[in-house]
Amino acid sequence: MKLGFIGTGAITEAIVTGLLRAQADVTEILVSERSSVISARLADASDRVRICSDNQDIVEGSELVVLAIRPQDAHAALSPLRFSEGQHVCSLIATVEAETLADWIGTPLDIFRAIPLPSVAALSGVTALFPYDPVGEKVFGPLGTVIGAKTLDEFDAYATASSLMGTYFGILELAAEWLRENGAERDAAQNYLNAVFLGLTKTGSEADGTPFETLREEHSTPGGLNEQMFATFISSGGAAALTTALDAVADRVRKARQCRS
Ligand SMILES: NC(=O)c1ccc[n+]([C@@H]2O[C@H](COP(=O)([O-])OP(=O)(O)OC[C@H]3O[C@@H](n4cnc5c(N)ncnc54)[C@H](OP(=O)(O)O)[C@@H]3O)[C@@H](O)[C@H]2O)c1
Repeated sequence: MKLGFIGTGAITEAIVTGLLRAQADVTEILVSERSSVISARLADASDRVRICSDNQDIVEGSELVVLAIRPQDAHAALSPLRFSEGQHVCSLIATVEAETLADWIGTPLDIFRAIPLPSVAALSGVTALFPYDPVGEKVFGPLGTVIGAKTLDEFDAYATASSLMGTYFGILELAAEWLRENGAERDAAQNYLNAVFLGLTKTGSEADGTPFETLREEHSTPGGLNEQMFATFISSGGAAALTTALDAVADRVRKARQCRS
């Protein structure tokens, strides 16, 4: 398959790195020349990667065109391009619906949307698709797990939940600082927390459908420290803070959708 990327930023670099690492069934990868540091790095990594100075060449030379530009750049970048009717397109552009993209482009397209995460570079990503598309599975499957959302609301909810990435590291930072203030070397604190959470992530993913609630109970001796930690976290507003943050981001995603429709 020939893949083309309009926009060669952080997520394109992660996807292309993953595809090369996975030795995926991709014969040619076309990338935008703009963002020349990343495009040159990708072209250096494989002779299957070709840099195009004109986005139109990417559209015409690809079986699947991946839109990987920021939402605020999308209209200006896409409206001059000429796509063929029914052309296969994968949009990574957050909050912009497929209908809006087709409207900007002015041609009916075969579009699916995807939310790959940076860990696709290490082949441990999870990518939500809407609608499910077998070509999307072919591209993102080798880079980790693929989830087909059944509705746009479900897809938007994955987009919201994926925004917890920064919070995850933010919480680890708070815990590492706490450990440092209580006697640990900063590096030791970070290594310790990485190991604790790596172990828990492994346990959770190997637990084959066991609810998180059950895993929490299994990791909490009655009357013990883990039980106390979670109870204190909840009674101090931890759950409310998380739900409020999820609702706020979901609201932003919903409003962005409504404002363009
Ligand atoms: N990063 C993630 O984890 C992630 C995950 C899922 C989805 N997404 C979505 O993917 C899209 C890209 O995200 P990103 O993090 O990769 O952003 P990014 O690092 O800012 O990359 C966007 C790239 O597009 C380039 N660009 C802008 N206008 C262009 C044009 N007309 N032609 C060609 N290239 C152009 C930008 O170049 P300049 O810097 O020169 O403007 C920049 O290199 C966003 O819509 C984002 O919501 C990102």
